[in-house]
Amino acid sequence: MKSFIDGMPKAELHVHLEGTLEPDLSFALARKNGVTLPYDSPEALLRAYDFDDLPSFLAVYYKAMAVLRGEEDFFELTWRYLQKARQQNIVYAEMFFDPQAHTARGVAFDAVIRGIRRAQEKAAAELGVETQLILCFLRDLSADSAMQTLHQALPYKHWLIGVGLDSDEKNNPPLKFAAVFAAARREGLKLTMHCDVNQANSREHIRQVLEDIRVDRIDHGVNCLEDLALCATIRERGLGLTVCPVSNRICVQDLTATQLRRMLELGLRATVNSDDPAYFRAYLNENLHALHEDGGLSMPEIVELVKNAFQVAWLDAPRRAGYLEQLQRHVDQAMPTAPAA
Ligand code: ADE
Ligand code: ZN
Repeated sequence: MKSFIDGMPKAELHVHLEGTLEPDLSFALARKNGVTLPYDSPEALLRAYDFDDLPSFLAVYYKAMAVLRGEEDFFELTWRYLQKARQQNIVYAEMFFDPQAHTARGVAFDAVIRGIRRAQEKAAAELGVETQLILCFLRDLSADSAMQTLHQALPYKHWLIGVGLDSDEKNNPPLKFAAVFAAARREGLKLTMHCDVNQANSREHIRQVLEDIRVDRIDHGVNCLEDLALCATIRERGLGLTVCPVSNRICVQDLTATQLRRMLELGLRATVNSDDPAYFRAYLNENLHALHEDGGLSMPEIVELVKNAFQVAWLDAPRRAGYLEQLQRHVDQAMPTAPAA
């Protein structure tokens, strides 16, 4: 099963590029940029990863970004993730980035996006890994700041597939950003928003993303299971849910395997993703292993989750069909009697 999972062609739809910053790269960039880290070694930095909820994780995550200073740093960050993606047989990824976390420190928007873009182009050419980029607004900053960031991004619109909303959800409902997301939609961008797991007002936030914002996808969204009407809307619209099991295990002490199974039973297009793999110490394959080994999900359930990611990805029809065929070939080779992928 492990080699079957590792060999599957996969899509990742919920990975924060800043969340792929590994301790060894942190140290290399700190040295290069003259930034002092309050740890002696990458191992000591790893030991400081003692978060157990979303705010305590975010505090570590934002602090660590101080080492990312110039275009080359964003290139290196992205290139390392994409090499890791290749090793994991991720053939397609939609990746988030948090520009406000960098522009607030005096890093130019242009340096951030240009570094990322160069790595995307190199990965497409040299690794055969196709990617698209999603700009995330930080929901604990103001709606004005998000709108300014959107305007900063518009000259690079052709490098973006969509916009998202992340960071601390407490007292930062989707509605706060209604005007920004409406403007992004008018620019032709796709819309997604985090509805993190077990947050205050989770169900109301999911209602807002569905009815007020009318997103094209929901990041996390696990609490929809508490309200069958929300589930019905998500199913009817065929919306994807990007669930992040190991992230959930760390931030809410629940791998959410039973919730993923329930989503599949209800006909919801749930997918599996890594979120911030350098911090949660699990890339996409490790998330799938955990679901099988610790969560008891079966091979057909894993196949369905992986298939869903291609089905809800922001791809055109021929590319989607090509990836689904690739996946079906892998399934047929591994288990000729398995249900169609
Ligand atoms: N930023 C990076 N990872 C995040 C997560 N899991 N939730 C909200 N914001 C994030
Ligand atoms: Zn996330």
